[in-house]
Amino acid sequence: MHQVKLTANIYYLGFNDRRTHLFENIWPIPYGVAYNSYLIDDSKVALIDTVDRQFIEDYLDAIEEILEGRPVDYLILNHVEPDHSGALRAVTARFPNITLVGNKKTFPLVENMYFKPVNVREVADGDTLTIGATTLSFHTVPMVHWPETMVTYDRTHEILFSGDAFGSFGTLDGGVFDDQLNLSFFEEEAMRYFTNIVGKYCPHTQRALAKLKDLSIKIIAATHGPLWRDNLEWILSRYRKWSAYQAEVGAVIVYGSMYGNTQKMAEAIARQLAIRGIKNIRIYDVSKTHKSYIISDIFKYKAFIAGSCAYNNELFPNMESLLTHIAHTGIKERYLSIFGNYAWSGGGVKNLRKFAAETGWELVGEPVEEQCSLKPAQFEACIRLADAVADKLGAA
Ligand code: FEO
Repeated sequence: MHQVKLTANIYYLGFNDRRTHLFENIWPIPYGVAYNSYLIDDSKVALIDTVDRQFIEDYLDAIEEILEGRPVDYLILNHVEPDHSGALRAVTARFPNITLVGNKKTFPLVENMYFKPVNVREVADGDTLTIGATTLSFHTVPMVHWPETMVTYDRTHEILFSGDAFGSFGTLDGGVFDDQLNLSFFEEEAMRYFTNIVGKYCPHTQRALAKLKDLSIKIIAATHGPLWRDNLEWILSRYRKWSAYQAEVGAVIVYGSMYGNTQKMAEAIARQLAIRGIKNIRIYDVSKTHKSYIISDIFKYKAFIAGSCAYNNELFPNMESLLTHIAHTGIKERYLSIFGNYAWSGGGVKNLRKFAAETGWELVGEPVEEQCSLKPAQFEACIRLADAVADKLGAA
């Protein structure tokens, strides 16, 4: 097989998953996902993270192809989540004298997930490990994406092995480094990965970025998606922006509608926004589009306009599920506008108001609620709602 190298003695050992439908059994990955591991072949041999367990056999074969019978001395565990520790048991079985390298939060997870490791090297923030000509240092980045998460910095070659940070959905279809592939594809998939997986931990991501900002970095080698070497600022600037909740001028309109009346309200609002000059408008039917894409766009755009019909005196269930997940992400500083519809009893708008109070987002415009078909008075109310949003967004 092709061997992909970061330097003369550092290898990329990654595998493309095009079979799994849902990452974490939640998030759709129509373009798959890559699990990236790395091997440093110096006086001592170090693996950095492993891969998902479905690739164990090929992973061990790839290691053997490089080492030709020599053992692996260290397995550095930046992150114990099973998509990266899936081959831990197999690696330790193959190399019984291997030393696991992690921090004080790493090994309890390993023990609970797999077994009590025998040879361990517990590192603290900033500790180093020299494995020949290569010196590595370890830097904890808690909650990016789990409590034990750390990154490993190769001081010799100036490579940051960053774990989930700077990762992306999408397989590596031939190209592995950022300069070997079309970045426009990863614009959406990197953002969806960040907002879906790490998005709850934006403040932690900000702290991690601040902590790592003085490192001189030539390559960022994440555990998912492309390796960054020609476009470091491309991915760094996006992480700075996303984790700071910075948004573009635009509106995400999401509706839950059984018979189309709430949908008509959404269309009226969107049309008026467009008349007012807003170009970034995305309308989603919450029953059709997975929340993965909707949440990513709520991170992207400043205004979120939510509409729900009433369902058994409550929110439309799919809207309720979306709002629960939005609340879990803790996203901040969005404009919120609400509308809805009912036939014989309310429940949609009433509960959207509760969501508004819980998020603390600025409620823009007067909520609009119609009974059954959209009639002139509430059509005009939708127009006023859209105008209020456009005013906030600074539209013409
Ligand atoms: Fe890719 Fe948090 O594991």
